[in-house]
Amino acid sequence: MEDRPINQSLSLIDTNSVPAEDKSVLHVWGRASLSGHVKISGAKNSALAIMAGALLCPEDCLLRNVPSLLDIERMSQILSVLGIKIKRQGDNLEIDARTPDDSQAPYELVSQLRASFFVIGPLLTRLGVARVPLPGGCAIGARPVDLHVRGLQAMGAEVQIDHGVVHAYVSGSGGRKLKGAKIYLDFPSVGATETLIMAATLAEGETTIENAAQEPEVVDLANFCRAMGAKIRGAGTNTIIISGVPSLHSVDYSIIPDRIETGTFLVAGAITNSEITLSPVVPYHLTAVIAKLREIGTQVIVEEPNCLRIVPDTLRATDIETSPYPGFPTDMQAPFMALLAQSEGDCIITETVFENRLRHVAELNRMGADIRVKGNNAVIRGVPILSGAPVLATDLRASAALVLAGLAAEGKTAIRGLHHLDRGYENLEAKLQQLGAKLQRVQDEEEVEETVQVQDHDQVLPK
Ligand code: EPZ
Repeated sequence: MEDRPINQSLSLIDTNSVPAEDKSVLHVWGRASLSGHVKISGAKNSALAIMAGALLCPEDCLLRNVPSLLDIERMSQILSVLGIKIKRQGDNLEIDARTPDDSQAPYELVSQLRASFFVIGPLLTRLGVARVPLPGGCAIGARPVDLHVRGLQAMGAEVQIDHGVVHAYVSGSGGRKLKGAKIYLDFPSVGATETLIMAATLAEGETTIENAAQEPEVVDLANFCRAMGAKIRGAGTNTIIISGVPSLHSVDYSIIPDRIETGTFLVAGAITNSEITLSPVVPYHLTAVIAKLREIGTQVIVEEPNCLRIVPDTLRATDIETSPYPGFPTDMQAPFMALLAQSEGDCIITETVFENRLRHVAELNRMGADIRVKGNNAVIRGVPILSGAPVLATDLRASAALVLAGLAAEGKTAIRGLHHLDRGYENLEAKLQQLGAKLQRVQDEEEVEETVQVQDHDQVLPK
């Protein structure tokens, strides 16, 4: 990707131009075997938090291994509105947050990218004021921000919510600085933990966050802040202690590999009964996912220094219950359901993190799966094989699940709602094609030549 200021690039990839109803369709021809190696991109959820964290720094920051995704473009656009200069150079972002202003982040952008709410912590601790629209709910749940707000209030912020905008400010008496506090999170919220870590880096005194989220992306943000000179201990445990410092300095920082993209490709290997390798990866970021893949009969081999190899065998049913890290990640629930839909036997997937994250069940059932939803449980009866069908993606990870199901199904699957996919997976189609998958994205009105059935049931794309 050529060097250009992000603002200019946005005019080329203006996220507002993404049609509300994305008109493209992804056709997937199933039953193709995969082979080879796939490169894992930088972690979306780490990059988004760290981009917000760059607001803390009055000097240039260089972020490396930043994936090219719709969500990253949207976060860049929001930071630009806040006076931040961003320049993309290939996989790197140069961020100049010397003069952030206290503009209000625009609702139409915040409502499309929940992670943009994370700017509230850095803005408040750096400027003493922040005005950020409530992100609102999304397909998977109400997504409140009460834990973020209550934590900031504990640190001395005055917070009012007026016409859907969170107005936070630090009253002049304390020199407009947040104060260190002891904060207990009712739930180990990733976003709230990240907001409060960032707010505490420049606060006066020490902040303790109890029942903190332990996700690798939280640790990556903490490591980024420490590289800028922040004093943070305990990231990755349920108790994080931050001692405020007067200011931070520039940093050159590389984002960790995306563990959810890694898990998605491991499932792609398992669901197509294909042996593939993936790197770079951090194996211990996927302990729960690897354990479950082994439980169903798949070999997952760690090859030094940072590579995984998957060697499928049986597909035995096994129960899954999502929970905060180090538990089974909620973001892998939908991709794993596509796999278990074809397993030998019955199993239950329980979603405990989000209240409405089973909407992909109906679409998988259109493909011949036998899944019943009972509350936050999906009761799965494994079927021998799924069948291709037209389906609609309802959220980011559901769209990945439908692609995976399409790779395994008999016949062709046509997936709509691809703007969800483009938010979180960098070059997913190209990476799958390079492994031998048969898929093609076309505009809705375009005709797609039917594939030619050949002897070995392999199917070839139209020329
Ligand atoms: C982050 O969302 C991720 N997004 C999500 O990934 C991920 O699924 C989630 O963490 C859980 O791991 C980013 O990092 C950008 P939470 P976040 O706060 O921070 C409730 C993906 O597909 N809650 O840990 O919003 C909340 O409603 C996305 O890449 C409150 O009640 O997740 C939810 O039920 C999807 N009050 C639960 O906690 C709050 O103030 C977990 O939310 C905050 C959260």
